[in-house]
Amino acid sequence: MRGSKSFWIVAALALAVWPACAQDGEPVAGRGGRGGRGGGTRDFLGLGPPPDAAAAARGEKLYAPNCAFCHGEKARGAEGPNLIRSAVVLDDEKGELIGPTIHKGRPDQGMPAFPNFSDAELNDLAQFLHLQVELVANRGLYKRLNVVTGNRDAGEAYFNGAGGCKSCHSPTGDLAHIASRYPPDQLQGRFIWPAGGRGGTRSQRVTVTLANGQTVAGTLRHIDDFNISLTDAAGVYRSWPRTEVKVEMEDRLAAHRQLLEKYTDRDMHDLTAYLVTLK
Ligand code: HEC
Ligand code: HEC
Repeated sequence: MRGSKSFWIVAALALAVWPACAQDGEPVAGRGGRGGRGGGTRDFLGLGPPPDAAAAARGEKLYAPNCAFCHGEKARGAEGPNLIRSAVVLDDEKGELIGPTIHKGRPDQGMPAFPNFSDAELNDLAQFLHLQVELVANRGLYKRLNVVTGNRDAGEAYFNGAGGCKSCHSPTGDLAHIASRYPPDQLQGRFIWPAGGRGGTRSQRVTVTLANGQTVAGTLRHIDDFNISLTDAAGVYRSWPRTEVKVEMEDRLAAHRQLLEKYTDRDMHDLTAYLVTLK
């Protein structure tokens, strides 16, 4: 019953990482209480054996340069999907599902193949991903929030001040009428983790530096171990072997990932109370 196991893990992690959709202010820390840290939480989530810390540390060295720009530094997703809520990761015990996924990739879906990793390296990557799940599971965020109990003015102040939202968004520009586009719980989800909904399909900006120092910026079309292609500003399709160019992906959601670590529950309530007034 692997499928149903991953359903429950995803549901439990959803509560852990998305304190977004429930209705009252009661902590549901029964989970935390029952699990505490470490083994108990793994039992509760139905996870396999604890990750091997040494292998995870080796895996991180492979993950950072090869995977982080698509899946995020801590595997919580960037322009590629969140791997902490992935069934492939949650149902895996010792690399038997993750390994083949990395090895073959899903070239049609935007996941390059990595045919050159050894079995030991694939296992290290798997252990690194398991450790990320573990860290999120133990984060102690098992709280429910009533999404609109915050203070609107405090939210506006946070938006313009400490939150730094103003540097990228405007209540009369890109966020105008946002409250008419999403109900409050979804609205909160949109700012807590914008990529949660349809992040994987957004266009990825990329800059390529050629051997002669010239740079070409555009929208990513394809990337794998061997080639990269993009559509440049003039709409022209261009492609290069990876060995001949340097590639930099824009990480548009880095600010939101950092905010995720920074918000207090109150900041989230207040921001939501403010954003729901942008009808
Ligand atoms: C260029 C972006 C990109 C890179 C680089 C990349 N991935 Fe992915 N990855 C994706 C996308 C997009 C998907 C979703 C594919 C799909 O929709 O089936 C994915 C899917 C996955 C999945 C399966 C998730 C699931 O539940 O279906 C795993 C596991 C994974 N990637 C791990 C890795 C690891 C480990 C690396 C580094 C060795 C890596 N990826 C590098 C883009 C990337
Ligand atoms: C460094 C720039 C940056 C900062 C700072 C930033 N965001 Fe964002 N935000 C983005 C990007 C990029 C997106 C994705 C936009 C897209 O592609 O639709 C986004 C998406 C959103 C969305 C979803 C919009 C939609 O139409 O779905 C909301 C809501 C949002 N941000 C609110 C906030 C709030 C509130 C803050 C401050 C606490 C904040 N953002 C800080 C860059 C930023």
